[in-house]
Amino acid sequence: MNSNGFKRHRRLRRTESLRALVRETKVTKDDLIYPIFVVEGEGIKKEVASMPGVFHISLDYLTEEMKGLEAKGIRSVIVFGVPHEKDSQGSQAYCEHGIVQEAIRKIKKDIPALTVIADTCLCQYTDHGHCGLVENGEVLNDPSLELLVKTAISQAEAGADIIAPSNMMDGFVAAIREGLDEAGYSQIPIMSYAVKYASAFYGPFRDAAHSSPQFGDRRAYQMDPANRLEAMREAESDIEEGADFLIVKPALSYMDIMREVKDRFNAPLVAYNVSGEYSMIKAAAMNGWVNEQEIVMEKLTSMKRAGADLIITYFAKDVADWLNE
Ligand code: PBG
Repeated sequence: MNSNGFKRHRRLRRTESLRALVRETKVTKDDLIYPIFVVEGEGIKKEVASMPGVFHISLDYLTEEMKGLEAKGIRSVIVFGVPHEKDSQGSQAYCEHGIVQEAIRKIKKDIPALTVIADTCLCQYTDHGHCGLVENGEVLNDPSLELLVKTAISQAEAGADIIAPSNMMDGFVAAIREGLDEAGYSQIPIMSYAVKYASAFYGPFRDAAHSSPQFGDRRAYQMDPANRLEAMREAESDIEEGADFLIVKPALSYMDIMREVKDRFNAPLVAYNVSGEYSMIKAAAMNGWVNEQEIVMEKLTSMKRAGADLIITYFAKDVADWLNE
């Protein structure tokens, strides 16, 4: 307290170097995980309409694209496959030569130092667009687990460094852990989409991954945005089942959940800065309404302040460029 009866907080804000001394949170390149969408075919590098700056790429462009990431200092990618063929069982998800398996193999062969995370779900691969098997309009839990286990094993076989199951079936972490262990992949960690809300913020992703449900919605397996305690129950069971990382998704509207998960569980916490969060900023920036760099850095810094250790973000390349400047 000074003689006027108030505190001088501004003392620590006077110059940029002073501010840097007391800065509590920093975003670094090691925090970033970049999502990529791989498609079948050749010579394809096509921008996703609702996600400016995000591309569908075919395998022949993959190495060049990954070398570009590596040059910027990004060391982790999460791979989403967009197959031509879909069926009721999502069989391209666990096919030895499926698009995602081929992509993982290629990246690990050409750029072995890159950490490759495989998204483990069925929705891009099923003709009904749901994340599990469907019977009489319902998404079945236990029979879906078998296919998810097969998918995870095929991804590990292809060389995935981390398995990231995003399907929200009950027991998926336990089932996949057991499956991986039995197949000889006990060293491969699981990055669980532990807390995944049924969110309108996934809209542009479904455009990118061609994974919109053909009937109904995902509310019978993804979480209700209104719930906080349920998120803690989800995170708790995933930890018990053997998850090595916990994801909270989406990020922006769920910072309170991130903080609480971080405070309660001793696992690296991942924020998924989802497609809708990306596209909204892009749209506003393209209209000149916001400063993209400042707003993105503020947003990612807030996620880390809320407890995230890592951030999956479509902005990763831009952020790396800005950090490199
Ligand atoms: C697959 C999956 C989704 C996302 C990641 N994995 C879509 C969904 O659940 O509908 C969304 C990612 C994003 O919006 O960026 N289940």
